[in-house]
Amino acid sequence: MSSAMSKRLEGKTILITGASSGIGKSTALEFARTSPKSLKLILTARRIDALKSLAEEIKSEVGDGVQCLPAQVDMSKPSEIVSFVSNLPAEFKDIDVLVNNAGMVRGVAKSPEIDPEDINVMFATNVTGLITMTQEVMKGMSKHGESGQGDIIMIGSIAGREGYPGGSIYCATKAAVRTFTDALRKELIATRIRVIEIDPGQVETEFSLVRFGGDKAKADAVYKGVEPLTPDDIAEVVVFTAGRRENVVIADSLIFPNHQAAATVMHRKS
Ligand SMILES: NC(=O)c1ccc[n+]([C@@H]2O[C@H](COP(=O)([O-])OP(=O)(O)OC[C@H]3O[C@@H](n4cnc5c(N)ncnc54)[C@H](OP(=O)(O)O)[C@@H]3O)[C@@H](O)[C@H]2O)c1
Repeated sequence: MSSAMSKRLEGKTILITGASSGIGKSTALEFARTSPKSLKLILTARRIDALKSLAEEIKSEVGDGVQCLPAQVDMSKPSEIVSFVSNLPAEFKDIDVLVNNAGMVRGVAKSPEIDPEDINVMFATNVTGLITMTQEVMKGMSKHGESGQGDIIMIGSIAGREGYPGGSIYCATKAAVRTFTDALRKELIATRIRVIEIDPGQVETEFSLVRFGGDKAKADAVYKGVEPLTPDDIAEVVVFTAGRRENVVIADSLIFPNHQAAATVMHRKS
């Protein structure tokens, strides 16, 4: 671990959405381990018990230098997001880093068989929720420094760069995130707000379990014969981007496991 990175992160307030599992949970742990002396972590998701356990885990691992605020927020409900950000306790109000990680996929249906409810929940969570959270947090970041300062980190996906059969809606949501992110970076050019997109390839998390409605056999089959990334692999990249010198922006990155070269191009051992 670079001590320069620890120092740069020291004293920051970091909001991580979708911190109850997978990449979000690993990201919270990685921030805490990288800068254990002084950090404030706001951890959001729907499963509040998982967030509270994570806060305990962080406390027992790194001690009291990292203060955690676990909070139940449903990203598919814009009014919940707005009210949550505006009612943050004073000591957590000044957010320096937003990690827009919460996201989900439902099913593998193809048009015209895609359930309208699945379309709505994926767009509400992955797109409208992410944009709403970004806007609310940006209001605070705009007050930092001379012209606004902070980091907005989007967890996109290879799915936002190429559509694949059975993933059209999820891919469309991640493409929307990518385009929003690109425009935002240009809109914020006169500020010191860094806009960062990290696009993972295949990562083994609860993602596939959610996709298949809890069917573990189907979720396990996704990873059969391949070695996916771990959520820690992506967490390390997130923390690295936030830990760069203030004038350095890792604007865009695509992270694959070694066997993957595109959304659907993977080497599978039989
Ligand atoms: N796994 C992959 O292969 C992969 C690849 C590329 C990109 N990604 C992206 O990485 C991000 C994290 O996914 P993951 O792989 O870590 O999956 P995961 O283990 O299923 O984690 C998803 C997180 O998002 C939260 N979330 C989902 N719906 C939510 C809602 N309505 N309100 C609030 N939080 C919600 C979940 O929390 P609750 O259920 O507690 O609400 C959970 O903490 C997602 O944006 C995903 O699209 C994943």
